[in-house]
Amino acid sequence: MSTSSPIADTKKNRPVILITGASSGLGAGMATRFAKKGYDLALCARRVEKLEGLRSEILEASPETRVELASLDVNDHDAVFAVFEDFQQRFGKIDRVIINAGIGDGAPIGKGGFQKNKFVLETNLIAALAQSEAGMKIFREQKEGHLVIISSTSAFRGLRSGMNCYSTSKAAVAHMAEGIRADMLNKPNIDVSTIFPGYIESEMTVKAPNGKTPFIVSNDKGCDLLVKAIESRKAKAIVPAWPWTVVCFLMKRLPLSWVMKLL
Ligand SMILES: NC(=O)c1ccc[n+]([C@@H]2O[C@H](COP(=O)([O-])OP(=O)(O)OC[C@H]3O[C@@H](n4cnc5c(N)ncnc54)[C@H](OP(=O)(O)O)[C@@H]3O)[C@@H](O)[C@H]2O)c1
Repeated sequence: MSTSSPIADTKKNRPVILITGASSGLGAGMATRFAKKGYDLALCARRVEKLEGLRSEILEASPETRVELASLDVNDHDAVFAVFEDFQQRFGKIDRVIINAGIGDGAPIGKGGFQKNKFVLETNLIAALAQSEAGMKIFREQKEGHLVIISSTSAFRGLRSGMNCYSTSKAAVAHMAEGIRADMLNKPNIDVSTIFPGYIESEMTVKAPNGKTPFIVSNDKGCDLLVKAIESRKAKAIVPAWPWTVVCFLMKRLPLSWVMKLL
């Protein structure tokens, strides 16, 4: 299913960003901010009613923005390719794809939570592969573009309990992003960025496993910093940089028992 904004097709040559998982949290916050910066938006998620509400808010604050919506479950891989291609046809190009859709509801391994854990890996890793394939196909054809993969600071170490498969998925997507970046080393007009957010208020942090969200920042502050990091087109960015750059450095080096006290 796809829907267009009332002013669709009236604006030409504005840069276009496709964001998956745009119906809440970081995706919605980034969409609002990128609209204010002059981008047109291709937004998708499963909850279309949330996307429609977000589009109304964006058009109120930034009426010149073209906002196209699509219903997408990223675990329906054929639909991922179809929706990305459809967005490219509607706008004529896509300048940036932000692979943001994700879930965090895992379970401790060995306690009967296999289906939950498999779903985390399918949504955060296999579906991110489908989105990367679909996005990079567009960028290779266009010979330009910016692929952004939302990983997590949890990628820096294997985490316990309900965070295990989540941190596994986020480490894996960071590796996948680096591999794509390696493929693009001789293609100067295609950038690949891996973003490692620390805790930023969203629907996900409300239901955080273990209830622990150290150093959490507001959605407003977090999304401001995410947009700044993405606009820099750096290969990797930890967001917020403070204190997470230090925390991630320590996570990599401290004994596991110390890391578990920290997080
Ligand atoms: N918030 C943090 O502290 C934090 C930290 C590090 C990384 N991250 C990452 O940031 C990303 C966004 O998370 P968030 O914190 O903003 O959480 P959120 O508010 O729960 O948003 C998650 C988004 O992903 C979408 N989504 C989930 N499953 C999907 C599916 N099968 N198909 C399509 N869309 C799906 C949801 O949309 P629908 O339900 O409408 O489909 C929603 O828009 C995730 O990748 C998360 O791992 C967040």
